[in-house]
This record gives sequence, C-alpha cells and structure tokens, in this order.
Amino acid sequence: MFKKKDIIICLGSSCFARGNKELMNIISKYLRQKNLSGKVSFRGDHCFEKCCEGPNLKIGNKIYHGVNKENIIDYLMEGLKDELQ
Ligand code: FES
Repeated sequence: MFKKKDIIICLGSSCFARGNKELMNIISKYLRQKNLSGKVSFRGDHCFEKCCEGPNLKIGNKIYHGVNKENIIDYLMEGLKDELQ
C-alpha cells in the first residue's frame, strides 16, 4: 500500500522559538508549489529531545539539525527526492 512520506517539524518551545515557526510556512508553501500534498504528510510534534541541535526537522527516517531558511530547501529536495520525480 502506498504510504505518504512523513515530514515532522519539532514544535517544542526551543525549536519553535529558534525558527521552526517560520519554517512551517516555508515548508507548507514548498509542498503546495511542488504539488506534493498527495505524497507527503506534514505535521508538527512535541520536542524531539535534541533541543541543543535544533531547530530540528524529520523527513522520513532522517532528522535534520540546525535547520534554517538558508538550508531548508536543500533538505527538502534531498529528503523528498523520490516524491519529487
Ligand atoms: S524543542 Fe525541538 S528538540 Fe526540543
């Protein structure tokens, strides 16, 4: 059965305050632009318990650390390369 890839953004207070609030909008916009809503499930979750490495984002099984406005698109392209084909 086809399973959507999960993108989970940490919305714990540390990651949220350090940029994930803004990254949520960037990710949503990217998924819309690339027409990926049928292939990807995007949601927020509680603290990943890796606050000092944050802001954190999980794509599939991989956790990306230190995510920011400059690297987020590269991480999305890498994490969603199968979905983007
Ligand atoms: S708040 Fe994101 S890992 Fe703790």
